[in-house]
Order: sequence, then structure tokens, then C-alpha cells
Amino acid sequence: MIGKTILIVDENQTSRAFLSNLMREKRFNVLEAGSGKEALIVAWRDEPDLVLFDPIFSDMRDIEFIQKLRQSARTARTPLIALSSDPAPARREACLNAGANEYIVKSSGALAALDEAFDRAFGGEAVSAEVPESVQKSRENGLLIVFLSAKGGTGTSSLCANLAMNIKDQNPEARVVVVDLVLPIGSIAQIVGYEGNLNLVTAADLPSAQTNGDYFLRELPEPDLWKFQLLAGSPDPQHGNNLKFERIGQIVDALRASYDFIVLDIGRSLSRISLPLIQQADLISLIVSTDLSTIKLTGTVWEYLAGQGIEDQNVYAILNRAVGLEGLTKTEAEDIIGFPIRTTFPYMGSNFALANNLNQPIVTKYPKDTASIIFKESAAEMVRLARQLRARKS
Ligand SMILES: Nc1ncnc2c1ncn2[C@@H]1O[C@H](COP(=O)(O)OP(=O)(O)O)[C@@H](O)[C@H]1O
Ligand SMILES: [Mg+2]
Repeated sequence: MIGKTILIVDENQTSRAFLSNLMREKRFNVLEAGSGKEALIVAWRDEPDLVLFDPIFSDMRDIEFIQKLRQSARTARTPLIALSSDPAPARREACLNAGANEYIVKSSGALAALDEAFDRAFGGEAVSAEVPESVQKSRENGLLIVFLSAKGGTGTSSLCANLAMNIKDQNPEARVVVVDLVLPIGSIAQIVGYEGNLNLVTAADLPSAQTNGDYFLRELPEPDLWKFQLLAGSPDPQHGNNLKFERIGQIVDALRASYDFIVLDIGRSLSRISLPLIQQADLISLIVSTDLSTIKLTGTVWEYLAGQGIEDQNVYAILNRAVGLEGLTKTEAEDIIGFPIRTTFPYMGSNFALANNLNQPIVTKYPKDTASIIFKESAAEMVRLARQLRARKS
């Protein structure tokens, strides 16, 4: 596909710049237009190989734009891909009926969908023969692993940071990033001892053209002993309130394009932002503590997730004895939540909090503890499982 010319039409300058950059990275020649009328002029003058457009124009109706392109001999057969900020089914249908080849909604899954649409548009023309390995590699998204729980205080953030550390330790060649999405205030930075200014809120403030995969690879801190790179969470509730939510999808997409493992701490939030991420995840690490109320709540959360199309094969449930020795057994917990628990972490008393306070991973601070063995084993199992599930998907 190298050398093909793409016309990018988007009235939003930031969005246009982001897409142009992305297309240049994929070695396309890029033309741009900032309005419907300008786009028609460029399309008929330069005859691009494909038009990628946001169908919301202020100077023309979406259908009119598509029909005009279809009616001209110069663009009658040009692939037209709508990349739309409007998820409404009515607009999708109207655009497709008017002659658009594809209608993709701008969302966190859009870039993957776009790649597939391009493959279809160019008739599966061998990408592999032409694209350098480095570029090709960036096309396979990294494995997405999300950590969540039904309640706070179950050890979600501690397990997230420690398991990610072990994943990197066991796969030193892999790029591993941890993203703290817990609002209004994150906690992974505190666990690993990062005090810098780069976090989810400040990153979301930057223009999307800047926060591409290379930016994160270059800029994200790699806290001592932890080995992974961190995109820290909101440092305080005030910042959390200023977070530009709509940027999270693009940020996660950029990370997925450049890292092999993207590990998200979602905490206990099931929201419009976190749900699509959970739905996309290769592996969902659901943290359960042993007290009855958390276990019951986990059952409820799971029912909700299952109703949202999430399959139990993607769930990696962890029973964490965070609250002490009392509580339910694994079997009792499984009976209530309705699916198997894959691993159980022992109660570590104040040792866990101590390691956290010293900003040390458990396997570094207590290498001989049973918990360290379990951390290593479950990290390996999670990687194995995530890879298996991914292979099955494709
Ligand atoms: N297995 C465990 N044994 C003892 N303490 C634990 C264990 N797991 C977590 N903790 C402690 O529980 C507290 C809450 O953990 P945290 O990871 O912040 O939970 P969450 O992110 O779910 O709110 C921390 O002080 C942590 O050190
Ligand atoms: Mg937490």
C-alpha cells in the first residue's frame, strides 16, 4: 500500500492532523481538506486512491458529499471510508446507502477497524511484501490486560503493578506499559514511587497528533525496580475533574500500537470510558477479596459485564486475601460469583503495605515469600492465556 494517496477530510483540525500523521507513518501520501467543498475540489483534481472523511460538514450534507463523488467518473470507484464522530445508526445507514464503502465510528477501537477497512479497500494487496518490518509490527496491537474489582481496597492496584512488573521481568524484550485510569485519583504512581508531572491528565491535554506511540515510548517514566513504563493516573481529584475523557480512547490506541502489553488499572469504575476498554481487553483480571459483601458485589458486576457481551473465557479471576485470614474459601467464592478463580494470593499482613510504602515490588522485597512464587506463576499464566485468546480471535 506504500505510495498510495489518501485524502483526509475532517473539519476538526486536530483530528485531521492526527490522521494525517498516522497515514504518513503507514507510508501513504496524504492530501488534506478541511471542508466538504474543498474535499470535492481536491478529490477531482488529484484523484486520490482513497478518501477518509468525517461525514459531518458545515458546508454540505454528508449524503450530498458522497453522492457527488460517486456521480463523477473521476471518483466513482474510489473507496470512501467514513470515520465519523457520530455513532447514530441513522447516519451510518444514510452514508452507506449513498455509496460510502465503510462507516467507522471514532472510538477506541477505530484504528484497528480502519486498518481492516484499508485492507478491504485495497483488495488485500500484500502489505507484507512492501511494508518494512518495523511498520508492520506496529500494526499488530499489543495485548490489553485490564484490572478491575467490584470494591475498593481489594488490592487491585497493588496486584496490577506487581503482576505487570513480573510480566516485564519474564519478557524483557517486550514493551510493557501500565496505565492508571482510576479516578478521581490514581495510586500506582505512589506504589512505584513516581513523582513526575506526566500523567493521564497532562497527556490528555496535549494535542492528539503529539501523543502518538513514539511519544509515549520516549517520554513515559520507567520507575526503578519496576521495569515497566508508567502512564500515571490523576494526581489529585482536582486534576481528575479536568481530565479530557474523550482523549482516553486515542491514548490507549496509541499505546496499543507501540507496546506489547498494555496493562490498565481500571479500579472499581464501570463507566462509559472503561466499558469499551473492558470489552476490547484480551484478558480481564477481576480481583476479588474474601469478604462476603465484595464477593456478592462481584457477582453483580459480572452479571452486568456478561450482559455487555464479555465472555467468561477472557476473565482471569484472582482471589486476594487482602483483608485478613477470615472470609470465604475459594470454592465458596466461586459458587457465588459463578466462574472459576484462577489464582489465590495469601494474606501478607503488613508486609504488602510495607513493600508498597518502600516503592518495592513484592518479588524484590520478599523474594522467598510464597506470594512471590504466586506472582511469578500468575504473571506467566496471564501472558500465556492472553496470547492464546488472541490467537483464537484471529
Ligand atoms: N494479599 C494482601 N495481603 C495484605 N495486604 C494486602 C494484600 N493485598 C493488598 N493489600 C493491601 O491492601 C491495601 C489496598 O490495596 P490497593 O491495591 O490500593 O487496593 P485497591 O486498588 O483495590 O483499592 C494496600 O495497603 C495493600 O498493601
Ligand atoms: Mg486502586
